[in-house]
Amino acid sequence: MNLLTQLRSLFEPAVTALAPDKAKVPDLLGAIKPAANADHGDYQANCAMAMANRAAGQQPQDVAKAIVAALPANDVLEPPTVAEKGFINLRLTSDFLSRSVRVLATDPKLGVVPVAKPRTFVIDLSGPNVAKPLHVGHLRSTIIGDSLVRILRFLGHTVIGDNHLGDWGTQFGILLYGYKNHRDDAAFKADPVRELARLYLHVRNLAKIAEGDDEDGAAGNPVMDACRTETSKLHAGDAENVALWQSFMPACLKMLEPIYARLDVKIDHALGESFYNPMLAGVVTDMLTKGIAYESNGAVVIPNAKGVIPRTADEQQREEPPAIIRKRDGAFTYTTTDLATIKHRAVTWKPDAILYVVGAPQALHFKTLFAQAKRWGYAHIEFQHLQFGSMLGADRRMFATRRGGVLELMALLDDAARLSLQKYEESVAARRASGRKVYEASAAEKAEIAEVVGVGAVKYADLSQNRTTDYVFDLDKMTATVGNTATYMQYAYARCRSIFREGGIDEARFRTNPPAVLLTVPAERALALQLLKFPEAVDNAAADYAPHLLTAYLWDLAKSYSVFFENCPVLNAVTPELRDSRLLLVDLVSRAIKQALDLLGIRVVERM
Ligand code: ARG
Repeated sequence: MNLLTQLRSLFEPAVTALAPDKAKVPDLLGAIKPAANADHGDYQANCAMAMANRAAGQQPQDVAKAIVAALPANDVLEPPTVAEKGFINLRLTSDFLSRSVRVLATDPKLGVVPVAKPRTFVIDLSGPNVAKPLHVGHLRSTIIGDSLVRILRFLGHTVIGDNHLGDWGTQFGILLYGYKNHRDDAAFKADPVRELARLYLHVRNLAKIAEGDDEDGAAGNPVMDACRTETSKLHAGDAENVALWQSFMPACLKMLEPIYARLDVKIDHALGESFYNPMLAGVVTDMLTKGIAYESNGAVVIPNAKGVIPRTADEQQREEPPAIIRKRDGAFTYTTTDLATIKHRAVTWKPDAILYVVGAPQALHFKTLFAQAKRWGYAHIEFQHLQFGSMLGADRRMFATRRGGVLELMALLDDAARLSLQKYEESVAARRASGRKVYEASAAEKAEIAEVVGVGAVKYADLSQNRTTDYVFDLDKMTATVGNTATYMQYAYARCRSIFREGGIDEARFRTNPPAVLLTVPAERALALQLLKFPEAVDNAAADYAPHLLTAYLWDLAKSYSVFFENCPVLNAVTPELRDSRLLLVDLVSRAIKQALDLLGIRVVERM
């Protein structure tokens, strides 16, 4: 049950009856929102302003009063008050909050109801270029994409995660060249993954390509020219190169496994670029036949998003460029592959929407791609480029080049885990010093804490950003034990669980046969309201494809819980009824944190 939806239904008859233009009703109901200032209420209805006919001398305040008068009798709201400018302030009754929280306690989905009309989503995520170390940009795509998969699935949509692997690019030319000229047979036999990784770096060194730079950039370099020839031969179907490529692939894919495992990410499909190779010629022919693509100076191009192929010098200045789908030398491109991918997805999964979680630099590519895919026959599909900004180093430059190279993701997660463990041990020492009894974790438990907290810190820091902004990668801030971090949420979770352990209480009864909820002080009421807002947060995050709305929710929840924790003794509550009611709230807080973190792909530990 989404509180906001419930309030909107409550207002719908009154607003419909009074709205001068019935078509505007959904917008007017949309103007019912969480209160900007909690002192004025829990929610506010801002619809009266747009409904007042000022020309006829009608004041928003009068309309607001009329709406309030027309509301059905209910025990959800205290009598609403109308503020000067026509805002209607809404405060939920204590009774309603208590009742609703009690119902919430028995719901495994914490109030989230499956959508009435489930849609089918394909989410294009991760997309690393295999045989190369994973880039931080792919880390963002993997983390954000996985969270969207989880959120949309939780709401009952059908979600297909597809990893559009770069498994057909220039890096294979490097490997083929390296394998043919520099391989160590014994090493390859013993550990192909390791030997291929060595060969990749070795050839790059020979070609003197700086770490972090794209190998495509190095034209005229003899080593790279030789590598490029190997790539062309592979793409042209050269038997030796294809066979070698086939023998490399399992090892290359294996290189990715530990990273996904560590990130706790499972992607349903990994149909990489190579999968589409046989379909590319057909795509070009079809686009030409349909008059969407054109020959231009021996190449085949598709128009830009506006449908223009800029030809004159003046147009070339003014217009976005077209995209090439077949080069003059006959080679197909990233765009050709993406067109083939759309067709394949459309046929295979019949999606309502395809979401691409890919960095902002590819914005123009997707803009052109979507516009032409729609002309090609896929106008019924919602296409979204869910772009994200760059991860920056402390010097605010692109993180990837900060240390003069692409930092291997595993090393980064190792750093995070190490720092998290260090901070955990400091926290344990501080708690002990202040006279508190702290559980002595075993070595295995400590390793688990380091991993869960460290990886969680990196993920949460990423997900808590507004997707599109750049952010500074600051491990120290990410692993902070206070503030809007995963660590803080994980501590809050563990603290909730420890109350049950200390009291020797089994939480099952609070979930199957919940006691009455007593909201005796403002901190309890505020916490109850926050718990009931969970479905609203999930709906908002899904509607905007924005996981940071979930972290914002967690932060609000954690703050309410902290005030509650300071003010409301739980195990030592004055009556058994109050103690039970508070235990129910604590149990729900732990469940909401765990569930919200799970939707972000972040785990918890029971004690820390
Ligand atoms: N491999 C690509 C890159 O690293 C990302 C793939 C994104 N997905 C797509 N359908 N183009 O830039």
